[in-house]
Amino acid sequence: MNYRCPLCRQPLLAQAGGLACARGHRFDRARQGYVNLLPVQRKNSRRPGDNQAMVRARRAFLAAGHYDELMTSLARQIDTHAGTACNLLDVGCGEGSYTARLHRHRPELLVHGIDISKPAIALAARLDPQAHFAVASSFDLPFFDHVFDLVINIYAPAPAEELRRVLTKDGVLLVVRPGPDHLLGLKELIYEQVRRHPEAAPELTGFRLEQRLRVQREHVLEDRQAIADLLRMTPFYWHLDHQRQQRVLALERLHTPIDFAIDRYRPLS
Ligand SMILES: C[S@@+](CC[C@H](N)C(=O)[O-])C[C@H]1O[C@@H](n2cnc3c(N)ncnc32)[C@H](O)[C@@H]1O
Ligand SMILES: [Zn+2]
Repeated sequence: MNYRCPLCRQPLLAQAGGLACARGHRFDRARQGYVNLLPVQRKNSRRPGDNQAMVRARRAFLAAGHYDELMTSLARQIDTHAGTACNLLDVGCGEGSYTARLHRHRPELLVHGIDISKPAIALAARLDPQAHFAVASSFDLPFFDHVFDLVINIYAPAPAEELRRVLTKDGVLLVVRPGPDHLLGLKELIYEQVRRHPEAAPELTGFRLEQRLRVQREHVLEDRQAIADLLRMTPFYWHLDHQRQQRVLALERLHTPIDFAIDRYRPLS
């Protein structure tokens, strides 16, 4: 499958050291194997997306297996919906733990992942060298229309219109969102007033919701490193004052529900 040039929308073809389109726009391949398809003029900050510290914390936390049930439930959904010659795209794939896990589960799939964060994509590309990773924005996906049978989107911003554009007409979109009780134990420690996430799956323009599946359990974190990783991989940490950060970082144990929703959508014809 070809990428589409983010500047002129012509196909991008392999060239020594990277990719190029017929109009001469060139995109180098990094030594980790990914391509950077985010044009400088489209960056809204110098280092968009999650920073190195967040990305590393998320990698450590996910690699320790704390969200394994979610990975297993997603793998089951993929088994139900992916044929053998299936193209999968992970939009906002972060450091690639989920992408790589699903690819390991179904190695025959052609797997792509994009994220706007360069440090995230660099880690993802190292974790799964057989998958295709690119730095790109979910608001302007560097792919042609209707090329992916399965699109997954886990906790990352992405406009419905773009997701629908790249999905085949009978494809499946899986969106993972926090359920109402997700990380309540942590939120209660850091917010005066805790807000729960909505019970119902949101509507997505151009899609029909087929199913909301919940993955829920009480979780106990019993080491400081895991608690610190969890805090640092969420936006909470970056909005907290120093005192509250320290309060959580000093905990020896954290009890909290984890609660994910896997929302399955089909494109409307
Ligand atoms: C909470 S993380 C989730 C990462 C991964 N899906 C996971 O669950 O481990 C959100 C991700 O969205 C990415 N992101 C934010 N804005 C984006 C955009 N416009 N296009 C693509 N990715 C974006 C961030 O860099 C970050 O990696
Ligand atoms: Zn071009």
